[in-house]
Amino acid sequence: MNDGGLAGGGGPKLDLSRIRTIDSIDVRGKRALVRVDLNVPVEGGQVADDTRIKRVLPTIEKLARDGAVVIVLSHMGRPKGVANPETSLKPVTAKMQELMPGTTVRFIGDCIGEEVKRALAALRPGDVAVLENLRFYPGEEKNHPMFAKQLAAHGDIYVNDAFSSAHRANASIDAIADLLPSYAGLLMMAEIKALGEALEQPERPVMAIVGGAKVSTKIEVLTNLAARVDQLVVGGGMANTFLKAKGFEIGKSLCEPDFTDTAKDIMARAAQSGCEIVLPSDEVVAKELKTGADWQVVPVEAIPADAMILDVGPASLADLKRRLGQVKTVLWNGPLGAIEFPPFGEGTLTLAREIARLTKERKLISVAGGGDTIRALNEAHVAGDLTYVSTAGGAFLEWLEGKALPGVMALIRNSART
Ligand code: 3PG
Repeated sequence: MNDGGLAGGGGPKLDLSRIRTIDSIDVRGKRALVRVDLNVPVEGGQVADDTRIKRVLPTIEKLARDGAVVIVLSHMGRPKGVANPETSLKPVTAKMQELMPGTTVRFIGDCIGEEVKRALAALRPGDVAVLENLRFYPGEEKNHPMFAKQLAAHGDIYVNDAFSSAHRANASIDAIADLLPSYAGLLMMAEIKALGEALEQPERPVMAIVGGAKVSTKIEVLTNLAARVDQLVVGGGMANTFLKAKGFEIGKSLCEPDFTDTAKDIMARAAQSGCEIVLPSDEVVAKELKTGADWQVVPVEAIPADAMILDVGPASLADLKRRLGQVKTVLWNGPLGAIEFPPFGEGTLTLAREIARLTKERKLISVAGGGDTIRALNEAHVAGDLTYVSTAGGAFLEWLEGKALPGVMALIRNSART
């Protein structure tokens, strides 16, 4: 069995007192640029899950109540430096307004330039404005100093409340923190504190459940976890690549054939560290990826050539439940199946309910993170039952690896300097 902390990676333990927070400032009459993460699922022009919006409201409301003009910055999706109405923050702003009925929340259709300046000049203390998606400009993801300067020109102070984006060294997260007095928001502090507590000295045995579509996006995380946790459950489309690497035929299932060697490396690393890799033993398969498609349950040895794996089967779920009953801590990121196409989210929902039940019975410490995971927890009505639910996906996983997150480091740097 592995022992010691999970954070690993040799990163220093964070001294929270080194980060300045919004509790320590007078914001009256100041223009506060608040970086949040409004990267939420939008379907048919409507916000499908408002968790991330709700979790940043305390910071926005506090600043507005304390007399600041609150200018909200965020990215949405991955438009790659080009304006794209599909990733506009307009519907997200409408949702925010709905959640803050007593406050004026304006949407401004750009994030830099003269028109934005004019629109912001009309705001009064207590007003909130949401600027358009920062990633419509390439300077955001390039951490370009000029783009950071153009954003910084809108404000007097900078507040980072986007822990879930803190792993991105983007202009609105990193470069901007050197241009204005910078502070951590309430959610940022809560996330750092809660994850630090859960991960430094976890109660063992520890299980990590990592789901989602692609191994290619989670290689480092899986590699690191394989060396640190006692059981690593690989779920979702990623499990198909692992099954393929083990020689199973997986029909038309989502798979990354170029990453079967990576999967083999991860399995070898796990074996060396005494970590058990847990893969499904049966699957729910269908011939089409669509809501309500006809499905059947088959063992992994018998996936039909014309079918695709869309969820874990009942035997795999029973095995997961048994294992959950034996561990003390579970870390969960990513769904086990195609949750956006019912009924192929059933495996993930069952897992969510079981983790919640064991946590409520005080048999398990449970920490979950990631957009799809939060969505599943909400659908199962158990988000409030876990020990901690982080709004972060990628940042949660990088934190777990012990990596220094640029957004947190920028706040520490700026707090030390001014
Ligand atoms: C997330 O959803 O994890 C954050 O919003 C970061 O998004 P990104 O992976 O597109 O940078």
